[in-house]
Amino acid sequence: MGYESIPGWFSSEAADVYRDMVATCPGGGTICEVGVAFGRSLAFLAGEVLKSGKYIRVVAVDNWYKTSYEPPHDHTDTPPNGDAVALEAMREGGGSQWSAFLYLMRQHAPRELDIVHVMRGQSWEAAKAFGFVHGVFLDAAHDYESVSRDIAAWAPHVGHGGILAGDDHAPDFPGVQQACSEAFGPSGYTVRGRTWRRRCEDGRGGGGEWADASRHAYPVDTPEGESDEVQCRDVGVGLHPQRGLRHGASTGSIR
Ligand SMILES: C[S@@+](CC[C@H](N)C(=O)[O-])C[C@H]1O[C@@H](n2cnc3c(N)ncnc32)[C@H](O)[C@@H]1O
Repeated sequence: MGYESIPGWFSSEAADVYRDMVATCPGGGTICEVGVAFGRSLAFLAGEVLKSGKYIRVVAVDNWYKTSYEPPHDHTDTPPNGDAVALEAMREGGGSQWSAFLYLMRQHAPRELDIVHVMRGQSWEAAKAFGFVHGVFLDAAHDYESVSRDIAAWAPHVGHGGILAGDDHAPDFPGVQQACSEAFGPSGYTVRGRTWRRRCEDGRGGGGEWADASRHAYPVDTPEGESDEVQCRDVGVGLHPQRGLRHGASTGSIR
């Protein structure tokens, strides 16, 4: 039980960023994780929100396109601390990473899953659903073009005093380093371990305005494969008493 039972790439520096996001987030604010995979870091984030007792909307954004579990060395597919667990979850969940995510979260972090609002689709499309949010953690694709596109899509949504951050600012991901440096200038952000962060002093405010999630809601199962449609779901198991925490969401059938 707990986030540590879920395979993933989550570091202690990323955990510190999430703690800071939750600590500084005003009630009613929103924190988005972009790049969720099996849910390890998401479960940690949602756990911190539950502990805080604050009304914070947690949004999980991923396209969950992967339908096969590839051999090691593929950073996106192979969590270093849970190969066997991930493989079994992929099998149990019917072979897709989306099903494995649901399976693992329900098994190890059901309360956390309950307060999460899931958006399945391309990161930069999902960003359009938001007004201003307090925190965004970018951990989706790590190539230069994708990270640049993610920063361009999400940075304008991080309000004053909010935090924009991301993972894998390291020599093995030169695209992340280049994208950050170009977007913010070398002194426009800080790096600890592999995690980068920028405190946003511009923007309109750190609240949690939700532009219009219903525009993006498709109450149907997601077909596998690439699509620009973003699907919003509540996928929790109904344990949390404040189900209104997930307001703005649509419910859909769950595989
Ligand atoms: C490194 S993993 C996330 C790891 C996770 N945060 C953890 O700590 O375990 C990257 C994830 O980003 C997702 N992804 C990659 N490109 C994406 C895009 N353009 N839009 C949405 N999700 C994307 C992949 O499906 C994958 O699940």
